[in-house]
Amino acid sequence: MPICIVANWKLNGSRAFNTQWALEFFKNFNGHNFSSLGIAPASLYIDHLKSVIGDYDIKIGSQNIDLEQTGARTGEISASMIKDLGCEFSIIGHSERRILFHETNQMICQKLIQANNNFVIPILCIGESAEENQSNTTFKVLEQQIIEALENVDELSSLIIAYEPVWAIGSGKTPNPEEIDSVHEMIKDVVQSRFPKIGLESVLYGGSVNLKNAYSLFEQKNIDGALIGGASLDGREFALIANLFNELRIQQ
Ligand code: 13P
Repeated sequence: MPICIVANWKLNGSRAFNTQWALEFFKNFNGHNFSSLGIAPASLYIDHLKSVIGDYDIKIGSQNIDLEQTGARTGEISASMIKDLGCEFSIIGHSERRILFHETNQMICQKLIQANNNFVIPILCIGESAEENQSNTTFKVLEQQIIEALENVDELSSLIIAYEPVWAIGSGKTPNPEEIDSVHEMIKDVVQSRFPKIGLESVLYGGSVNLKNAYSLFEQKNIDGALIGGASLDGREFALIANLFNELRIQQ
């Protein structure tokens, strides 16, 4: 089962938070299949979160990995290290990393290769800025981000792409669901036509997803799931969003 509903906890959390979150989550989640769910805590808490989640097959991943495997790179964490902790995926190229930490598409490309070499599924984030959106260059910008990130990758056994418009993150604003659907269709076309050796599993949407708007997003054919920031910090809300996803996908 691909990972469909993913929590990105960003720079939040503690051991007490993990325990409380899991309590709320398990009280409210009514599904039986946990393997489509993912959580990316701060890397420091991966081990603790895994022990709190126990035997349930919720995937744990990191929010970032380094572009090298080892070396004199103080403060970095490699794909092999997160794999060693039992992680199955890593978010790569989130817009906060691109903007605050100056990550380029070329660096992101190296990170994708690291993830693949270590059997970690990359969730590649792409998205346009508010200015790019207003000037109607969204498709062009996204296509360029995809091509530059993937052009030097020979092969990827699995790839998840998350479409996260920068202006929608943490703002309470989203494009309308039909617009997102057409962007996702374009993303699938570009990857499948230009990069046949890349196993694109799914395209998630991220940016102000919450319990109120989740249903209208999941109704769209090309929205395969969500990457959720703020609303994922509440174990109950995350569980209820996952329940909505399951209801709709089981109906289809
Ligand atoms: P919000 O859900 O808080 O808008 O964050 C989205 C995001 O950046 C997920 O990676």
